[in-house]
Amino acid sequence: MREQPETITSRAGQGRFCGRTWNSQVLHRPGLDELQAELYALTHRGHRGDAEHYARHCAGARRVLELGVGHGRLLAPLSAVATEVVGLDREPALLAAARRSLRRTQRGAQRGRVRLVQGDFTSFELPDEFDRIVLPYNALYCLLGRRALARCFARVQAQLAERGQFLFDVWSADRFQHSLRSRRAGHRDDGAALVSLFHRGQQWDVFEQSRLQSARQRLDVLYTYVPRSRGASVQIRIEQRYAPSGELERLLAEAGLRVTAKYGGFARERWSPRSEHLVVVAERG
Ligand SMILES: C[S@@+](CC[C@H](N)C(=O)[O-])C[C@H]1O[C@@H](n2cnc3c(N)ncnc32)[C@H](O)[C@@H]1O
Repeated sequence: MREQPETITSRAGQGRFCGRTWNSQVLHRPGLDELQAELYALTHRGHRGDAEHYARHCAGARRVLELGVGHGRLLAPLSAVATEVVGLDREPALLAAARRSLRRTQRGAQRGRVRLVQGDFTSFELPDEFDRIVLPYNALYCLLGRRALARCFARVQAQLAERGQFLFDVWSADRFQHSLRSRRAGHRDDGAALVSLFHRGQQWDVFEQSRLQSARQRLDVLYTYVPRSRGASVQIRIEQRYAPSGELERLLAEAGLRVTAKYGGFARERWSPRSEHLVVVAERG
C-alpha cells in the first residue's frame, strides 16, 4: 500500500534555516533559471563550521574534487588550502553562479586552480585521481535510492588516490527517525515565512512546505519565494532521500571504502544516534 504523504508547513528562525534542523534540505531537479539559482544560493549557506572542517581536511592536498559544488560556496576555502580544486555539479545555472562568484572573489593566487565541470556524481569519470573527494552539505541525500548511492560510492572509490580521503556530511537520519518514532519531529503549521531576504532590489518572504514519506525515507521540500512588491513568486522543489548511518556505512564498505572517522558535528564532536549531523571521513580499503 502506498504511504499517504504528510504535508508540513514549517517555520523556523534564521539560525535553524541555516541548516541545523532536520528539515534543512538538500536537492532539486536540474533546470533552475538564473533567478532561481540566485535565490537558491541565498538560502543555502551551509552549516557553521563546515567550511573550516573541509578546509582542515583538505589542507596540503594536491587535488580536491567537490561533488555537488552548487554555487561554489566552498570553492574559496578549498582553493586557499589545496593546489587544485575541481567542482562538479549537474545544474548549469548553479555552475554559472559559481563561475560568477569566482570571477568576483578570485584572487591572483587562486587563478587557474579551480575548474568547474558539469556532470553527475553517480556516473562521472575524470582523468585525474584526487587526494580528497568531498560531498558536503547533505548533497548525498539528493540520491533517491540505494542503487544511486552505490554508484556514487563506486565512482568515488575509483577516483580516489591511494591514500586519499572521502568526506561528506548529512543531517542525521538516525536522529530524525528516532524523533518520528517518538512523535517528536519538529512539525509546525503556522504558515509564517521561514525567512525574509533582500534580492534584486526587493524583499522576498520564503515559505517552506515539506512532504514526508517515511516508508521510502523521503522528505521532499517545496520552497516558495514571494516578492513583496512586484513580480511572480518563485518555487524550488527539493527532493531528498535520507539514509541512516548504518545504511551508508554498509554501502561504503560494499564499494571498498572504510570509515575512518565519524563525527556528530564540524568541531569533531563524538557521533551518537542523537547527533544533529553525521560527518564522515572514509578511505579506500
Ligand atoms: C545542498 S547543495 C550543496 C552545494 C555545495 N556543495 C555547498 O556545500 O554549498 C547540493 C548540490 O548537489 C547537486 N546535485 C544533486 N544531485 C546531483 C547529481 N546526481 N550529480 C551532480 N550534482 C548533483 C545539486 O545541483 C546541488 O548543487
